[in-house]
Amino acid sequence: MKVGVVGAGLVGATAAYAMTLRGSCAEIVLSDLDLRRAEAEAQDIAHASPVSHGTRVSAGPLEELAGSRVVIVAAGANQQPGESRLDLLQKNAGIFRELIPQVAASAPGAVLLIATNPVDVLTGLSTRLAPEQPVMGSGTVLDSARFRHLVAQHAGVDATHVHGYVLGEHGDSEVIAWSTATVAGLPVADFMAARGLDWTPEIRAAIESGTRDAAAAIIGGKRATYYGIGAALARITERVLGDRRAVLTVSAPTPQFGVSLSLPRVVGAGGVLATVMPRLTPDEETALEASAAVLREAAGQLEG
Ligand code: 2OP
Repeated sequence: MKVGVVGAGLVGATAAYAMTLRGSCAEIVLSDLDLRRAEAEAQDIAHASPVSHGTRVSAGPLEELAGSRVVIVAAGANQQPGESRLDLLQKNAGIFRELIPQVAASAPGAVLLIATNPVDVLTGLSTRLAPEQPVMGSGTVLDSARFRHLVAQHAGVDATHVHGYVLGEHGDSEVIAWSTATVAGLPVADFMAARGLDWTPEIRAAIESGTRDAAAAIIGGKRATYYGIGAALARITERVLGDRRAVLTVSAPTPQFGVSLSLPRVVGAGGVLATVMPRLTPDEETALEASAAVLREAAGQLEG
């Protein structure tokens, strides 16, 4: 099973590295306008292969994506300190208008997994640029992981036993959907009460801002985020390759909101197979509608 990665910057290369360590697929091809960079990353990652799962890792032009089942698109500019994801829109949309039709021509039938920011708007744009191709964005899979990590830290349990979704934009308007969150199958407040742990509005607010502002904090410290998103991209890719029917908050065009955004989606071989609309509180519903409005406005700037 072959996976293409377009964009051999920190996110694309880390996704390829994560897939190599996890044994997500048999073959990875890295492609970048800067082919020398792609070759260097592929070589470095390939050296991890004999001591992990033997994945074949190489670099090449876009034509070498042929036969890929999934193509991760991580090409484009990334956020600088103080920039929001939406600030990248025009620059990265220009890159996508050239790139996505070429990727689609090189890897017909592959699921396109968009990682470049602003991921929701670029997922919507890619759907229009590659209408024959299944397309989805990494969306809030990473934000949901950040949320689960912070709740797990407070609860004192392993994060794989914390569930909960971040919905809407992968960005500043995202919605932390507390009503979907459970620890060991209990609503979060019930779990904290059962364990005798503090559960105050201040603690909840700190978890919310820790989730929403994680990228800005990391970018402030080391100029980029890549380990979290790299692992999230590897996991989404595996779920497609294995037709696993995993429920993940990937971004996809959502007619109800008139834009691409994240909701829990069943992900399998064809990409997004179904959407599961969670039962939200009225406040969460309002926040989700507001997040959709932010994205509609951003998507509208593309046409203009
Ligand atoms: C992240 O959330 C910057 O979107 C990237 O880590």
